[in-house]
Amino acid sequence: MKVFFLFSSVSTLAIFFLCSGIRPSVCRITIPQVQNNRIHYRHAKRRLPKAIIIGVRKGGSRALLEFLDIHPKIRICHREMHFFNNDDAYAEGLEWYRRKMPYSFADQITIEKTPAYFTSTDAAQRIHSMNSSIKLILVARNPADRAISDYEQIQQNRLSRKKQRQTFEELAFNVDGKIHEDYLAIERGIYHKHLSVWLNYFSLDQILVLSSELLITDPVSVLRKVQLFLGLQPYIRQSHFVYNPSKGFYCKADSLGRQCLSKSKGRAHPKLSPEARRKLEDFFIPHNKHFYTMVGRNFAWFQNDSISFV
Ligand code: A3P
Repeated sequence: MKVFFLFSSVSTLAIFFLCSGIRPSVCRITIPQVQNNRIHYRHAKRRLPKAIIIGVRKGGSRALLEFLDIHPKIRICHREMHFFNNDDAYAEGLEWYRRKMPYSFADQITIEKTPAYFTSTDAAQRIHSMNSSIKLILVARNPADRAISDYEQIQQNRLSRKKQRQTFEELAFNVDGKIHEDYLAIERGIYHKHLSVWLNYFSLDQILVLSSELLITDPVSVLRKVQLFLGLQPYIRQSHFVYNPSKGFYCKADSLGRQCLSKSKGRAHPKLSPEARRKLEDFFIPHNKHFYTMVGRNFAWFQNDSISFV
């Protein structure tokens, strides 16, 4: 009797909290059941993603995913699954992948993000064979800034393994001073090359290309685009965010104050010499132009890389 009372109070309390604005869609569900010590809603299932954030690495993919989590019709997979770009993970099969997804209701959209998918040679074909009508999201960032951010992340990983720090210049430039195109932090920024692989499988209107810079300055406008692309009623508003001036980023506003991303987002970047920066930009200009033509949008990341659309 006591156990039953405890259970019904816990579930009533759970329904009360879930219905008090955090997850309004849950309110349609009646009595949850407890299975294996977990509250389970009868119509909730783990479902394969209907949308995937495929990249770019260091483009703000975590911020985008966490911000989308505000929408009651969106369920996010917090972990980067690396399912479609890793042969061992892929060999586990789609059912294994599905079981890693969060519980959702039929009218909710599950979203996964793994930025390494964008530059993988296999991910596009594998995602297409899972669901050829899936929606894909790409957050594109100025490739020179992205390269430095990527470099900084690699250096932080080296330091944590007690390895010595290398300079950006020694990695990004060959001895003759030319750009080292195969250095991954550079190569990942040749967006048209990677996008062309995806366009072998998906049409451009299945891929939403966003600006990483705008996501920082005006997340609400970027999120509005994403919600419409996903076929959702725009729900995420300015009041869901607070600006953190010391970090220079928006954070999610919650009842406890603000929820900012971890310290690994928004790291300080090394300052390049003006010459090194110019060489880096010169290298990316033709690649950026090619990318702008492909996606039909001028990101104008550098002063002299704009193209005109007639
Ligand atoms: P930096 O660390 O170079 O500033 P990802 O999540 O794909 O790894 O991208 C990390 C980048 O997200 C950060 O790069 C940062 O610029 C960007 N970003 C965008 N919006 C952010 C936010 N609200 N909070 C923190 N970082 C954000």
